[in-house]
Amino acid sequence: MEGLFKAVFVLIVALVFLRYLGSNDPVHIDPVNPTDPIVLPPGVHRDVLIIGGGLAGLSAALELVERGYNVTVKEASPMLGGRLKSTEVDILGETFRVDHGFHAWFYNYYTFKDIRHRLGINDNFQRWGANHFRFRNYKDEVMESKGPYPLNVIATLLKSPNFKVSDIFDIVRISVFFAYYNHDTVYQRYGNITFDEWTEIEGVPTWFADTVLRPALSVTFNERTVLNAAEILMYSHFYFTGDSKADQRSIATVDHRTAVFDPWERRLKSLGAKIETSAPVSDLRFASKDSLVSGVLPGAQRSYDHVILAPDLSAVKTIFTETSQKFPRNEHMACIQNRLQQLPMAPSYKVIRVWFNKQISPSHPAILQTSEYHPINLVVQYHLIEKKSREWSLRTGGSIIEFHLYAWSYGDVKDEDVWDTVSPTVREIYPEIFVEDFKRLGQFVHSGTNFASFPSSLEHIRPTVTFPSECGVTNLNFAGDWLHTDYPSALMERAVSTGRIAANQVLLSDHVRQVPMLVASNYGPGYI
Ligand SMILES: Cc1cc2nc3c(=O)[nH]c(=O)nc-3n(C[C@H](O)[C@H](O)[C@H](O)COP(=O)(O)OP(=O)(O)OC[C@H]3O[C@@H](n4cnc5c(N)ncnc54)[C@H](O)[C@@H]3O)c2cc1C
Ligand SMILES: *[C@@H]1O[C@H](CO)[C@@H](O)[C@H](O)[C@H]1NC(C)=O
Ligand SMILES: *[C@@H]1O[C@H](CO)[C@@H](O)[C@H](O)[C@H]1NC(C)=O
Repeated sequence: MEGLFKAVFVLIVALVFLRYLGSNDPVHIDPVNPTDPIVLPPGVHRDVLIIGGGLAGLSAALELVERGYNVTVKEASPMLGGRLKSTEVDILGETFRVDHGFHAWFYNYYTFKDIRHRLGINDNFQRWGANHFRFRNYKDEVMESKGPYPLNVIATLLKSPNFKVSDIFDIVRISVFFAYYNHDTVYQRYGNITFDEWTEIEGVPTWFADTVLRPALSVTFNERTVLNAAEILMYSHFYFTGDSKADQRSIATVDHRTAVFDPWERRLKSLGAKIETSAPVSDLRFASKDSLVSGVLPGAQRSYDHVILAPDLSAVKTIFTETSQKFPRNEHMACIQNRLQQLPMAPSYKVIRVWFNKQISPSHPAILQTSEYHPINLVVQYHLIEKKSREWSLRTGGSIIEFHLYAWSYGDVKDEDVWDTVSPTVREIYPEIFVEDFKRLGQFVHSGTNFASFPSSLEHIRPTVTFPSECGVTNLNFAGDWLHTDYPSALMERAVSTGRIAANQVLLSDHVRQVPMLVASNYGPGYI
């Protein structure tokens, strides 16, 4: 009987979608000024200040320095990388470069792929296969898209041990949202309701919401009760349904400083960029009534032709609070400040990496998503994926395991107490760590409150890269993963691609040819 139902299901879905076999190709965004020269003409000098040395700032820096700009990057922290920086940590007499948490790079990350290629760092990445999920209330899932759309989606669903045949018609109905994803209208239509409201209104089967959509939701670092439905539809399109290869992941073979940021910094410096670390920018200054941004740092009168503001949202807000205190009557400032004040931050998160004297069973996947085990969302066995960690574990028989703790709700907990706070939950996932009395040889904890929240009813005011010019400030652009983009993007790819848009604004205003971009299609595979 079950077999019959499944056959009927396949038939229905196939009938609905078969004529759409395939995915929409990514879209080329060509320069709007293709006849302008490719670099600043001889004798023309332009100074650019880039505030923030994370992915967004460095992406802008790369484009502008290659086109002859005098680029200065000011980064608050002692090292580049932002939310992906690697901290050197001494454990048992050895130095490890510990990333600010495990990161995966996906198929639709076209801007990053381009940068990776240009920096010659492809060899520092490896493809990583299926996505493994562990649930409290459902069976384990292993998801991997195989074959062309829509067969990949059908195969994934049929393979799912949680799939309920009785929900076939609901699933077919819901799949229309993904097949006919439309980035042009999704925020208007679903930006004002939360994901929870949307699942209720649309009658999304609970198991489907919990096992397929909710894991995607957790990586936004937002709370389920708050996140708007459009954002989760966009994530599903960008990371799964928009392209049959969308879920293909790459991960770094070494820490990201070695893999990405050191080569990037070397390239920028070799082209003449000035990179200042431990150089926080506290506020902006305005040259005159024409509202050009001129200088930074209290007292500094240094003038720049362009400023790109690429810190995380919370730091951008702080800079504008400082600035508007200094220029209380500047209407341009007030315009930017008013908008920023309405944008909330997501809850804080922590990442704890632990060095153990033993290893858990090889049957556990190296990378495991655990969205139902709040606050643990992701567990990564570093000694199985990263070179230095692997060498250490081969020598010592130990293991290095990282736990990502999102939407932290336990208040202020000291780093040394984080393990005790989460260990009851760890025990549910890996009882052997406790039963076999693993020793913790060392640990490192990262914390942050630097993700934007994407709640309902605010998407219509989320700024884009060029928002400052809407407020009359023409030589200031934003870049970062908290902005709205007119194409599907998220997280690291949103950071690097908004950095490129910011650079393109600068290039356009100086009559230098823009850099082409490649972005994921705005339309689900239903539209062909
Ligand atoms: C644990 C964890 C896991 C993640 N996993 C993934 C993943 O798997 N895939 C994915 O795509 N994304 C992932 N992300 C998200 C990703 O790290 C971010 O989206 C991305 O790094 C954001 O880049 P950004 O340049 O916009 O901002 P940031 O990286 O925050 O960079 C901003 C920079 O500005 C600097 N700054 C702040 N204030 C000032 C100031 N006043 N003056 C000068 N500089 C300043 C900061 O120090 C920082 O270096 C993850 C993030 C975390 C924390
Ligand atoms: C480039 O900018 C830096 C930092 O603002 C400045 O010190 C330097 O003089 C500039 N270089 C040129 C060639 O103007
Ligand atoms: C969404 O909500 C905001 C504020 O509540 C409102 O201003 C906006 O017009 C709404 N958008 C739509 C498409 O309903």
